[in-house]
Amino acid sequence: MSSHKPSKSVTLSTLQNLKRNGEKFACLTAYDACFASILSEAGVEVLLVGDSLGMVLQGHDSTLPVTMKDMIYHTRCVKRGNKGALLMADLPFMSYASESQTLENAAALMRAGAHIVKLEGGAWIASTTKLLAERGIPVCAHMGLTPQSVNRIGGFNVQGRDTKQAQLIIEEAHLLQDSGANILLLECVPRELAKTITDSLEIPVIGIGAGPDTTAQIMVLHDVLGISPITPKFVKNFLLDSSNGIPGAIKSYVKAVKDQSFPAEEHWFN
Ligand code: KIV
Repeated sequence: MSSHKPSKSVTLSTLQNLKRNGEKFACLTAYDACFASILSEAGVEVLLVGDSLGMVLQGHDSTLPVTMKDMIYHTRCVKRGNKGALLMADLPFMSYASESQTLENAAALMRAGAHIVKLEGGAWIASTTKLLAERGIPVCAHMGLTPQSVNRIGGFNVQGRDTKQAQLIIEEAHLLQDSGANILLLECVPRELAKTITDSLEIPVIGIGAGPDTTAQIMVLHDVLGISPITPKFVKNFLLDSSNGIPGAIKSYVKAVKDQSFPAEEHWFN
């Protein structure tokens, strides 16, 4: 592993400035020190220790079995390899069900090395977002397809396709920004809805399966490398055309996000 560190670390202000200047930024999931090093050195601005680790590392069919112990372990690993990216970590299923649980678990992720925590939900996480923000813990609110609610949603489906549901997502996104969220992540929503939300919010919006107009893109590392067992529509394998193995694939992903050649039309929902 190289010991090179970029001179400047990515902070929330960096991301806010990128949004203000109309520049895109690249995010990827990371679960260990080796990949954290490769990804951050390739210019990925945000590393997400996602609870997707339950599916891609542990082999579960959802993210529900992931525990705080798992998240703390992988956050510590990623922190050790990270060379200056902003480190975001997921609060897993049922770890923010009460106020005391939320504070204890968010603090544990921050102590493990996270710079910001991510939680899933709409209006019902507004008070939780406020609680964390008031205590100095930055929050990314994850909306649209929220995998921790897969059993309630009824599958990993596109959200916000009808006007009523789209309007509700727009209103809830504003509520979460007003409650103190620093970043919004939108998963699997139609391009037009993601654009409306991105254009009307002040905070950066990270998209996955949400089209090209969000401030940033995120993908699961295993999808970028083409080693996931399933390939959703919004996924592109960047290893296929890489002339420099995994580091080359990650650099191509970063470049494609920034020059807006990814996502292409075949990767988004209308
Ligand atoms: O857990 C995760 O990897 C995520 C991404 C799909 C955004 O939340």
